[in-house]
Amino acid sequence: MSSSPEASPPAADDSAPSAPAVISSGRVAVVTGAASGIGLGLSQRFAAEGMRVVMADVEEPALRHSADEVAGKGGEVLAVVTDVSTPGQVEVLAHRAVQAFGGVHLLCNNAGVGGPHGPLWTVPEGEWEWVLGVNLWGVIHGVRSFLPLLLEQDVAHVLNTSSIFGVFAGALGPYGISKHAVTALSETLYFDLREAGARVGVSVLCPGAVKTNFGSSARNRPAHLPPPPDTRAAARAAASKEQFDRLSALGLEPSQVADIVVDGIRAGRFYILTSTNRNEAVLRRGEEVVRGDPPARPFPFSGPAPPG
Ligand SMILES: NC(=O)c1ccc[n+]([C@@H]2O[C@H](COP(=O)([O-])OP(=O)(O)OC[C@H]3O[C@@H](n4cnc5c(N)ncnc54)[C@H](O)[C@@H]3O)[C@@H](O)[C@H]2O)c1
Repeated sequence: MSSSPEASPPAADDSAPSAPAVISSGRVAVVTGAASGIGLGLSQRFAAEGMRVVMADVEEPALRHSADEVAGKGGEVLAVVTDVSTPGQVEVLAHRAVQAFGGVHLLCNNAGVGGPHGPLWTVPEGEWEWVLGVNLWGVIHGVRSFLPLLLEQDVAHVLNTSSIFGVFAGALGPYGISKHAVTALSETLYFDLREAGARVGVSVLCPGAVKTNFGSSARNRPAHLPPPPDTRAAARAAASKEQFDRLSALGLEPSQVADIVVDGIRAGRFYILTSTNRNEAVLRRGEEVVRGDPPARPFPFSGPAPPG
């Protein structure tokens, strides 16, 4: 039996109590990074389940287009332009959701960017701030603004999008670091909610490769950041986009990820992985920790970094 509020039995000590399904008609989902990729796939699937969907994204034209697409298929949608790295904008998002639909049952902190992949000491401060601002602070702002609303519901759930890079050995510059933090945040939130006896479940989505626009995350790089500092960095960024696009073409469709998420939440899964091809690297990390070994690189040094 499951320990999530989605389909769970009455509370044992540290498990969430039983309650009606979070993913069902009339419930309200908020999805960040909803204009594209995984966020759009989730929004489409939730709308198809009869949920009312608040789609949030920093990219206004893409958001309008995607929200129209979901609404065109009969979805009840509210689009809110939101930069998740700005706490005031996430607060406004929460207010708009309540104003429109009266509450929130499912929060998907999904917006994310890739950023630079160079050696850590070469990454400029502004790039750290951008990647951690969106990928980590965006989730923190989501938790701070929405948890009070979720706690008021008969049942609710938080889905944070981390990455397979958030569970195996840290790699890929600030990105992997931000994703490890999102995994740890989700685990902490789970414990906090269980301790509080709350009817709010948590899952952390750790995708492998997915066919999205993630390879061109730089389109959302804040205008105030100075241009990448040297041509080597620019060349590396271009190379990683190419590598990403090539590898992500082998990945899942966002709709397949959305199916995995819905099944995962319904089954009460906490960690939701989308592929098994990195299981060995995940298990190896645990063994390295207890043995005190240095981390083995989760992908070859010479080959391209896989998306995730
Ligand atoms: N695509 C993959 O292979 C893959 C694998 C593992 C994890 N992920 C994670 O999935 C999530 C979604 O990425 P995706 O692959 O769908 O990429 P995507 O680029 O297609 O979608 C990301 C969305 O986030 C939005 N966004 C960027 N900065 C934002 C901000 N400051 N505020 C609000 N929205 C913002 C973008 O405009 C975009 O619509 C990310 O967190 C990413 O790290 C992706």
